[in-house]
Amino acid sequence: MGKDVIVACDFATAEQTFAFLDKFTGRKPFVKIGMELFYAEGPEIVRQIKARGHKIFLDLKLHDIPNTVKKAMAVLSKLDVDITNLHAAGTVSMMEAALEGLTREDGTRPLLIAVTQLTSTDQERMESDILIKEPIDQVVIHYAKNAAKAGLDGVVCSPLEAGKIHENCGAGFLTITPGVRFADGDKGDQKRVMTPAEAKKIGSDYIVVGRPITAAEDPVAAYERCVAEFID
Ligand code: C5P
Repeated sequence: MGKDVIVACDFATAEQTFAFLDKFTGRKPFVKIGMELFYAEGPEIVRQIKARGHKIFLDLKLHDIPNTVKKAMAVLSKLDVDITNLHAAGTVSMMEAALEGLTREDGTRPLLIAVTQLTSTDQERMESDILIKEPIDQVVIHYAKNAAKAGLDGVVCSPLEAGKIHENCGAGFLTITPGVRFADGDKGDQKRVMTPAEAKKIGSDYIVVGRPITAAEDPVAAYERCVAEFID
Protein backbone atom coordinates (compact mmCIF):
# COMPACT_ATOMS: atom_id res chain seq x y z
CA MET A 1 0.00 0.00 0.00
CA GLY A 2 1.35 3.38 -0.93
CA LYS A 3 0.65 6.90 0.24
CA ASP A 4 -3.02 7.63 0.78
CA VAL A 5 -5.55 10.05 2.24
CA ILE A 6 -7.64 8.40 4.99
CA VAL A 7 -11.00 10.03 5.67
CA ALA A 8 -12.01 9.98 9.36
CA CYS A 9 -15.68 8.98 9.29
CA ASP A 10 -16.48 10.39 12.73
CA PHE A 11 -20.22 9.86 12.43
CA ALA A 12 -22.58 8.50 15.08
CA THR A 13 -24.68 6.21 12.87
CA ALA A 14 -24.47 3.98 9.80
CA GLU A 15 -27.12 6.13 8.13
CA GLN A 16 -25.00 9.30 8.36
CA THR A 17 -21.92 7.40 7.25
CA PHE A 18 -23.59 5.95 4.16
CA ALA A 19 -25.18 9.30 3.26
CA PHE A 20 -21.62 10.69 3.29
CA LEU A 21 -19.99 7.79 1.41
CA ASP A 22 -22.75 7.78 -1.25
CA LYS A 23 -21.37 11.09 -2.50
CA PHE A 24 -18.18 9.39 -3.68
CA THR A 25 -19.04 7.94 -7.05
CA GLY A 26 -15.48 7.99 -8.45
CA ARG A 27 -12.39 7.19 -6.38
CA LYS A 28 -13.40 5.37 -3.15
CA PRO A 29 -11.67 6.92 -0.14
CA PHE A 30 -9.70 4.93 2.45
CA VAL A 31 -11.97 5.21 5.50
CA LYS A 32 -11.15 5.44 9.22
CA ILE A 33 -13.77 3.92 11.53
CA GLY A 34 -13.40 4.97 15.15
CA MET A 35 -14.85 3.87 18.47
CA GLU A 36 -18.05 5.91 18.24
CA LEU A 37 -19.27 4.36 15.01
CA PHE A 38 -17.96 0.88 15.80
CA TYR A 39 -19.58 0.76 19.24
CA ALA A 40 -22.84 2.17 17.85
CA GLU A 41 -23.15 -0.16 14.87
CA GLY A 42 -20.92 -3.14 15.66
CA PRO A 43 -18.70 -5.14 13.29
CA GLU A 44 -21.40 -5.15 10.60
CA ILE A 45 -20.55 -1.53 9.74
CA VAL A 46 -17.01 -2.64 8.87
CA ARG A 47 -18.29 -5.43 6.59
CA GLN A 48 -20.70 -3.07 4.86
CA ILE A 49 -18.13 -0.36 4.18
CA LYS A 50 -15.66 -3.00 3.00
CA ALA A 51 -18.32 -4.46 0.66
CA ARG A 52 -18.67 -1.01 -0.90
CA GLY A 53 -15.04 -1.21 -1.95
CA HIS A 54 -13.32 1.01 0.63
CA LYS A 55 -10.05 0.24 2.40
CA ILE A 56 -10.50 0.51 6.18
CA PHE A 57 -8.41 1.73 9.11
CA LEU A 58 -10.16 0.40 12.23
CA ASP A 59 -9.12 2.84 14.95
CA LEU A 60 -9.98 1.08 18.23
CA LYS A 61 -6.69 1.67 20.10
CA LEU A 62 -6.53 -1.59 22.06
CA HIS A 63 -4.76 -1.60 25.45
CA ASP A 64 -5.08 -4.56 27.84
CA ILE A 65 -3.08 -7.56 29.04
CA PRO A 66 -1.24 -9.34 26.19
CA ASN A 67 -3.49 -12.41 26.17
CA THR A 68 -6.68 -10.36 25.92
CA VAL A 69 -5.30 -8.13 23.17
CA LYS A 70 -4.06 -11.19 21.25
CA LYS A 71 -7.54 -12.75 21.30
CA ALA A 72 -9.27 -9.49 20.41
CA MET A 73 -6.88 -8.97 17.48
CA ALA A 74 -7.62 -12.52 16.24
CA VAL A 75 -11.30 -11.53 16.08
CA LEU A 76 -10.52 -8.24 14.32
CA SER A 77 -8.34 -9.99 11.73
CA LYS A 78 -11.47 -11.79 10.49
CA LEU A 79 -13.03 -8.42 9.61
CA ASP A 80 -10.47 -8.05 6.84
CA VAL A 81 -9.57 -4.44 7.62
CA ASP A 82 -6.41 -2.93 6.10
CA ILE A 83 -5.03 -1.16 9.18
CA THR A 84 -5.78 -1.40 12.90
CA ASN A 85 -4.07 -0.06 16.02
CA LEU A 86 -3.24 -0.26 19.74
CA HIS A 87 -1.52 1.79 22.47
CA ALA A 88 2.27 1.41 22.61
CA ALA A 89 1.94 2.06 26.38
CA GLY A 90 0.70 -1.54 26.65
CA THR A 91 4.39 -2.64 26.40
CA VAL A 92 6.43 -4.55 23.82
CA SER A 93 4.97 -7.90 25.05
CA MET A 94 1.45 -6.66 24.44
CA MET A 95 2.37 -5.45 20.95
CA GLU A 96 4.04 -8.80 20.11
CA ALA A 97 0.97 -10.67 21.34
CA ALA A 98 -1.27 -8.38 19.27
CA LEU A 99 0.72 -9.11 16.13
CA GLU A 100 0.49 -12.83 16.78
CA GLY A 101 -3.28 -12.62 17.24
CA LEU A 102 -3.72 -10.50 14.14
CA THR A 103 -1.77 -12.83 11.85
CA ARG A 104 -4.06 -15.23 9.98
CA GLU A 105 -3.28 -18.90 9.34
CA ASP A 106 -2.08 -18.10 5.82
CA GLY A 107 0.43 -15.55 7.21
CA THR A 108 -1.46 -12.45 5.99
CA ARG A 109 -2.58 -9.69 8.37
CA PRO A 110 -3.76 -6.07 8.44
CA LEU A 111 -1.07 -3.44 9.09
CA LEU A 112 -0.65 -2.82 12.82
CA ILE A 113 0.05 0.72 14.00
CA ALA A 114 0.78 2.05 17.50
CA VAL A 115 -0.49 5.17 19.19
CA THR A 116 2.38 6.77 21.16
CA GLN A 117 1.28 9.59 23.47
CA LEU A 118 -2.15 10.97 22.63
CA THR A 119 -1.96 14.60 21.51
CA SER A 120 -4.45 15.40 24.28
CA THR A 121 -1.71 14.52 26.81
CA ASP A 122 0.81 17.32 27.32
CA GLN A 123 4.09 17.37 29.25
CA GLU A 124 2.45 18.64 32.44
CA ARG A 125 -0.32 15.95 32.50
CA MET A 126 2.17 13.22 31.62
CA GLU A 127 4.38 14.20 34.57
CA SER A 128 1.63 14.79 37.10
CA ASP A 129 -0.88 12.07 36.15
CA ILE A 130 1.24 9.20 34.89
CA LEU A 131 4.59 10.09 36.48
CA ILE A 132 6.55 10.08 33.22
CA LYS A 133 9.24 12.71 33.69
CA GLU A 134 11.08 12.54 30.34
CA PRO A 135 10.48 15.18 27.61
CA ILE A 136 7.38 14.19 25.63
CA ASP A 137 9.16 14.11 22.25
CA GLN A 138 11.61 11.56 23.66
CA VAL A 139 8.73 9.52 25.05
CA VAL A 140 7.10 9.49 21.60
CA ILE A 141 10.35 8.31 19.95
CA HIS A 142 10.89 5.68 22.64
CA TYR A 143 7.35 4.31 22.14
CA ALA A 144 7.85 4.31 18.36
CA LYS A 145 11.11 2.34 18.78
CA ASN A 146 9.30 -0.14 21.02
CA ALA A 147 6.64 -0.57 18.35
CA ALA A 148 9.32 -1.19 15.72
CA LYS A 149 11.07 -3.68 18.05
CA ALA A 150 7.79 -5.58 18.48
CA GLY A 151 7.51 -5.84 14.68
CA LEU A 152 4.70 -3.33 14.16
CA ASP A 153 4.39 -1.42 10.90
CA GLY A 154 4.32 2.17 12.17
CA VAL A 155 2.80 4.77 14.44
CA VAL A 156 0.14 7.46 14.51
CA CYS A 157 1.92 10.77 15.06
CA SER A 158 1.74 14.49 14.46
CA PRO A 159 2.98 15.42 10.97
CA LEU A 160 5.64 17.45 12.78
CA GLU A 161 7.05 14.24 14.30
CA ALA A 162 7.05 12.13 11.11
CA GLY A 163 10.60 13.06 10.05
CA LYS A 164 12.06 12.24 13.49
CA ILE A 165 10.22 8.91 13.58
CA HIS A 166 11.59 7.90 10.17
CA GLU A 167 15.11 8.93 11.29
CA ASN A 168 14.86 6.75 14.40
CA CYS A 169 12.82 3.79 13.17
CA GLY A 170 13.70 3.61 9.46
CA ALA A 171 12.20 5.05 6.28
CA GLY A 172 9.94 2.02 5.86
CA PHE A 173 8.31 2.46 9.29
CA LEU A 174 4.93 4.02 8.54
CA THR A 175 3.75 7.36 9.87
CA ILE A 176 0.01 8.03 9.91
CA THR A 177 -0.65 11.68 10.61
CA PRO A 178 -3.85 13.47 11.65
CA GLY A 179 -3.93 17.24 12.26
CA VAL A 180 -4.13 18.11 8.56
CA ARG A 181 -5.77 21.34 7.38
CA PHE A 182 -5.94 23.26 4.10
CA ALA A 183 -3.88 26.47 4.07
CA ASP A 184 -7.08 28.53 3.75
CA GLY A 185 -9.14 26.32 6.11
CA ASP A 186 -10.40 26.45 9.69
CA LYS A 187 -8.05 24.80 12.25
CA GLY A 188 -10.91 23.83 14.59
CA ASP A 189 -9.57 22.26 17.81
CA GLN A 190 -6.33 21.01 16.19
CA LYS A 191 -3.42 23.14 17.38
CA ARG A 192 -0.39 21.92 15.46
CA VAL A 193 -1.46 21.45 11.86
CA MET A 194 0.04 20.95 8.41
CA THR A 195 -1.38 21.15 4.91
CA PRO A 196 -1.54 17.94 2.82
CA ALA A 197 1.31 19.29 0.65
CA GLU A 198 3.50 19.95 3.71
CA ALA A 199 2.70 16.50 5.12
CA LYS A 200 3.83 15.02 1.80
CA LYS A 201 7.06 17.00 1.89
CA ILE A 202 8.02 15.86 5.39
CA GLY A 203 7.32 12.23 4.45
CA SER A 204 4.00 11.24 6.05
CA ASP A 205 2.85 7.92 4.63
CA TYR A 206 -0.86 8.42 5.28
CA ILE A 207 -2.76 11.53 6.31
CA VAL A 208 -5.98 11.24 8.34
CA VAL A 209 -8.41 14.01 7.46
CA GLY A 210 -11.80 14.45 9.13
CA ARG A 211 -13.69 17.73 9.25
CA PRO A 212 -11.90 19.47 6.37
CA ILE A 213 -13.63 16.79 4.23
CA THR A 214 -16.69 15.66 6.24
CA ALA A 215 -17.84 19.21 7.06
CA ALA A 216 -16.97 20.71 3.66
CA GLU A 217 -19.70 22.11 1.45
CA ASP A 218 -18.47 19.77 -1.26
CA PRO A 219 -16.79 16.79 0.47
CA VAL A 220 -15.82 15.09 -2.79
CA ALA A 221 -14.03 18.23 -4.02
CA ALA A 222 -12.28 18.60 -0.63
CA TYR A 223 -11.18 14.95 -0.79
CA GLU A 224 -9.92 15.33 -4.37
CA ARG A 225 -7.99 18.44 -3.28
CA CYS A 226 -6.30 16.44 -0.49
CA VAL A 227 -5.42 13.66 -2.93
CA ALA A 228 -4.04 16.16 -5.45
CA GLU A 229 -1.88 17.88 -2.80
CA PHE A 230 -0.73 14.73 -0.99
CA ILE A 231 -0.41 12.02 -3.64
CA ASP A 232 -0.52 13.26 -7.23
O1 C5P B 1 -11.60 16.36 11.97
P1 C5P B 1 -10.13 16.13 12.08
O2 C5P B 1 -9.40 16.26 10.76
O3 C5P B 1 -9.48 16.93 13.19
O4 C5P B 1 -10.06 14.58 12.47
C1 C5P B 1 -8.85 13.95 12.77
C2 C5P B 1 -9.09 12.51 13.13
O5 C5P B 1 -7.86 11.98 13.61
C3 C5P B 1 -10.11 12.28 14.25
O6 C5P B 1 -10.75 11.02 14.01
C4 C5P B 1 -9.26 12.24 15.49
O7 C5P B 1 -9.84 11.47 16.51
C5 C5P B 1 -8.00 11.56 14.97
N1 C5P B 1 -6.77 11.83 15.74
C6 C5P B 1 -6.29 13.12 15.96
N2 C5P B 1 -5.15 13.30 16.69
C7 C5P B 1 -4.50 12.26 17.18
C8 C5P B 1 -4.96 10.97 16.98
C9 C5P B 1 -6.12 10.78 16.24
O8 C5P B 1 -6.88 14.09 15.50
N3 C5P B 1 -3.38 12.46 17.84
